[in-house]
Amino acid sequence: MSKTVGIGITGGIAAYKMADLVSRLRKDDIEVIVMMTESATRFITPLTFKTLSNREVITDLWQDSQEWPVQHIGIAEELDLLVIAPATANMIAKMTHGIADDLVSTVALANTAPVLIAPAMNSNMYQNLVVQDNLKKLSLYGYEILDPASGVLACGSIGPGRLPEIDIIYQKIIRMLNPKQDLKGKRLMVNAGTTCEDIDPVRFIANRSTGKMGYMIAEEAVCRGAQVILVSGKSDLTPPLGVDYIKAWGAQEMCDIMLKYQPMCDIIIGAAAVGDFKASRAANQKIKKMENKSGSLTLELVSTPDILKTLGQAKKPGQVMVGFAAETQDLIDNAKKKLESKNLDFIVANDVTMEGAGFAADTNIVTIIERNGETRSLPLMSKKEVAASIIDSVVNLLS
Ligand code: PMT
Repeated sequence: MSKTVGIGITGGIAAYKMADLVSRLRKDDIEVIVMMTESATRFITPLTFKTLSNREVITDLWQDSQEWPVQHIGIAEELDLLVIAPATANMIAKMTHGIADDLVSTVALANTAPVLIAPAMNSNMYQNLVVQDNLKKLSLYGYEILDPASGVLACGSIGPGRLPEIDIIYQKIIRMLNPKQDLKGKRLMVNAGTTCEDIDPVRFIANRSTGKMGYMIAEEAVCRGAQVILVSGKSDLTPPLGVDYIKAWGAQEMCDIMLKYQPMCDIIIGAAAVGDFKASRAANQKIKKMENKSGSLTLELVSTPDILKTLGQAKKPGQVMVGFAAETQDLIDNAKKKLESKNLDFIVANDVTMEGAGFAADTNIVTIIERNGETRSLPLMSKKEVAASIIDSVVNLLS
């Protein structure tokens, strides 16, 4: 069943950023009820949030509502999570002391769901002992408080007080909505993105992987309580909150890193698109444009290490190892060969020629092939849902 998040927006310049958060949550089919203080409406209009959330936006305790006869109680009863962001010093003080004199503070008091607070204000205000004391109290009451980011603030001063990145607030919300902790106490290492093999100081061989699939697996695993090491090749994505993040360039470097951490891991997942070839010798200087008649350049390529195969040979008892197979033909047969040769527990086969599957897409179409030959073909799903299915299969194996 879809979850409902209440977002209480209070009067700070960062209020406009909440539009992005609301649309991201809606894309995940999460119901969003936006409440705004009168000051918040001076920074961004309720109409923006009404359009994005597709629900009434309440700004006033006395506002007539089509949805709730007694708004503050009705809203509070619907919530699975209440988020106050940006949270001003004033709203934090009211929540600390049980003052309920506007819609947001009244819902906060009537609410029984978990609460996430993202403070955002001038750094002197944030560092003021009164505000710090209030935040400590709220934390003792069980509220989750996100640390603000540091940097240049809208008022010109520099220091802590910026609203954390929307991505961070979003990830925190997803984690708080998803209390399933079936990987608690487990350490999972996943690789993602494309490896890069140098040809010369300015050119390299890479592939189309963006890292989306592997980063989603890392995110899902942290959400479910695992300690996660994300070994990433080239990718423009921001690592999920709370992962140990290690960058790798070529296949050899990625292999060395993963071999180092393998002994401490319970689960290893290979989602990276590891290049199979590299130049036999990378040139020290930029290779000049060919001046010969044919204009051609011949590069000699040699194999890179097969990371999963290397790790598969060193697999410790009880360690679960999962690979992907990116195929353009004979999906199941090719994937089964990789499952065997790399000593994996199961393999996730994706036909990367299919629309909505494989590289760069936000979705994937995969077949999970177990060691006993059992196969499970999943329909077109978001990479987030695919990641959840993979983690479900891992949990099954562990139990
Ligand atoms: O990153 P995205 O844009 O979201 O795209 C996702 C993806 C298509 C990259 C992902 O779904 C995927 O299929 N990843 C595996 C890509 C790949 O290298 O497949 P492969 O069939 O060539 O390799 C089989 C397995 O061996 C993979 O788990 C791979 O990580 C691993 N491998 C391959 C070669 C090598 N030298 N070392 C390896 O460890």
